[in-house]
Amino acid sequence: MISFKRLLATCGLSVLAATAAFVPAKAQDANYPTRNITVIVPFAAGGPTDVIARIVTGHMQQTLGQTFIIENVVGAGGTTGAARGARADADGYTLTMGHMGTHAASVPLYPKLSYNPATDFVPIGMAAGTPIVILGKKDFPPKDLKEFVAYLKANSDKLNSAHAGVGSVSYSANELLNSQLGIKPVGVPFNGTGPAMNALVGGQVDYMVDQIVNAVPQINAGTIKVYAVATPERNPSLPNVPTTAEAGLPEYQVQAWNALFAPKGTPPAVVAKLNAALSKALDDEGVRKRLLELGSVIPKPAERTPEALGTLVKNEVERWTKVLKPVSN
Ligand code: MLT
Repeated sequence: MISFKRLLATCGLSVLAATAAFVPAKAQDANYPTRNITVIVPFAAGGPTDVIARIVTGHMQQTLGQTFIIENVVGAGGTTGAARGARADADGYTLTMGHMGTHAASVPLYPKLSYNPATDFVPIGMAAGTPIVILGKKDFPPKDLKEFVAYLKANSDKLNSAHAGVGSVSYSANELLNSQLGIKPVGVPFNGTGPAMNALVGGQVDYMVDQIVNAVPQINAGTIKVYAVATPERNPSLPNVPTTAEAGLPEYQVQAWNALFAPKGTPPAVVAKLNAALSKALDDEGVRKRLLELGSVIPKPAERTPEALGTLVKNEVERWTKVLKPVSN
């Protein structure tokens, strides 16, 4: 027979467990976060999305007092990881570092995309703007952008351009360039532009059009060529690199972005805490220095709000829908 003392202990534990289970949701949100937070990066380690995620969450974990774990979930131009992020529990413990590809350009590219970036996520905030740069392997013959354009037009059927899969920023930025130049080079997909950059440095692919972030160290080391930055102004991290307008291709203008998202239904109090921690990270001198050294553009306070990110996603889906044609899926 069970002793009274043991019965009391068992009941006591059950009552405690029951009490914990019935802590009102609002109180749980007030205590958030009480455990590790996973951030899905939909591309390989070492690429722009991964690097930005690690820089900003490295500071957010100091603010929130919990470890942020980066999980690289690769495939299908970032849409595999983003789909996983959309389906995660809406409790603030699984976030997604999305970008212009996963949360905008993928919509027109994949008519059967399994998530809607605008309605299956709640925006937390923009982490970084990432200008696009036009890059070539070290011994790529063209010396400047005008020669690059002429060379691509003359040889596109023999050239390989690297990208991070259909739906990625590099794919979409490349497609825009191809359509403006009227060319059809062979695209070589990688699980991210971390590995694509390795192939460019190794000379296995001829050129790449991608976010500036992981290109800057290679450009400075002289392991790849850079032809132009596709923004109206030069980038402070690469002051000697001309803009596309200066170098003779003014119509080619692209800036991408990286941003944090939570699954739809995430409590507003949790989103507000995450947004405040992200904004605090973007005000930190160390974080700013690292992002700026890699060519990122730090969002101004008004651009960091969930509302601003929601508007950006809507506008970017519209913008890329005019540019990109669906692929079958
Ligand atoms: C892209 O092309 O979408 C990105 O550069 C992917 C990445 O972060 O590797």
